Amino acid sequence: MKPTHLMKIADLSVTEIDEILCSASMMKANRSDQVSSWPLAGKSIGLIFEKASTRTRISFEVAMTQLGGHSLVLGSEGSQMTRGESVADTVKVLSRYVDGLVIRTFGQDVLEEWALHAMIPVINGLTDLHHPCQVLADLFTIQERVGQLQKVKIAYVGDGNNVAHSLIEASVRMGMILSLACPAGYQPHQAIMDAACMGSHVGTVECGTDPVSAVKNADFIYTDVWTSMGCEGEKNTRDNVFSGYQVNEALVAEAKPQALVMHCLPAHRGEEITSDVIDGPQSIVFDQAENRLHVQKAILVQLLGN
Ligand code: CP
Ligand code: NVA
Repeated sequence: MKPTHLMKIADLSVTEIDEILCSASMMKANRSDQVSSWPLAGKSIGLIFEKASTRTRISFEVAMTQLGGHSLVLGSEGSQMTRGESVADTVKVLSRYVDGLVIRTFGQDVLEEWALHAMIPVINGLTDLHHPCQVLADLFTIQERVGQLQKVKIAYVGDGNNVAHSLIEASVRMGMILSLACPAGYQPHQAIMDAACMGSHVGTVECGTDPVSAVKNADFIYTDVWTSMGCEGEKNTRDNVFSGYQVNEALVAEAKPQALVMHCLPAHRGEEITSDVIDGPQSIVFDQAENRLHVQKAILVQLLGN
C-alpha cells in the first residue's frame, strides 16, 4: 500500500487537519491513558536530523514512547551515507526496519527524494521551505485559546521563511486572516503566496513590509528568528535588515488589547522578540512548545496507526 507522507501543509485536506487537531485534543486530555492503550505498540520510527533540534526531535521521541512505540535517532555520522551510500538505497533498507521516518534537512528536494523511495510514511521535521508539524501545533494552540480558527487574525512579523510558508498554507485552508510584515527581499516565496491566493480557499493572506499595519486588529502576533538554520553566514546583514521587525511591547500595543504572542522557538531574545514580551502575560510560546508533543502524537497515529 502506498504510504502517505507529510511533506507540507498543502498535502493535507481541511478534513485531515481537523482530524489531527481533534485527535491532539484527545491526546492532551487523556495523556495518561495512552500508556495503557498503546496505539503504536511494536512500531518504530527513525529520526534523521541534519540540523539542530530540541522540540521536534524530543517531542517525537517522547510521543513514540507514550504511544507504546520506539524511536531511533539515526545520525548520518556513523551510517554508510557518510561513505557514499545513496538516499535511495538507505531508505529502501530503512523501510524494511522502521514504520516511519521524521527527517529534518535543508532542501525540500532532499526530503522529497527520501519520500520518493520510501515504502513507509516520511514526515517533514523542518526543511528550508516548510515546517508543517510546527504549524499544526500552532493551529492547535490557537484553537485551544479561542475555540476556532475561522476569522482569527494572525500577524506574522519577520522573515518570510519555512514557518511563514507553512502558516500561509494553513491559514488559507482553515479560514484565517494572515497578515505578514516582512522586509523587501525576505518575503515569502511568490509561488507559495500565489498558490495560497489562487486556490479555492476560505482564508486570506497578504504580505507587506510594515509591522504596525500587519498587527492592527490582530488576535495573535507570531514571530520567528531573523537568521534561520543554514543562513548563519548572513547574520550581520539580517540583523540590520530586520532591526525594525522586533516584537516588543510597543508593537504588541498596536494589536488587539488581548492579542496573544507566539514564537516557534528557539528565540533570540533581544532580536526578534524582547524578554518582557516572551515572558509577559500575553505570551503563549511555552504552551505552543508543549503542544508539539500532543500534535506529534496525533500525526503519528494518523500516519502509522492501524
Ligand atoms: N520549533 C522547533 O522546531 O524547535 P526545534 O528546532 O527545537 O525542533
Ligand atoms: N525558521 C527557523 C525555525 C526553527 C524551528 C529555522 O529554520 O531555523
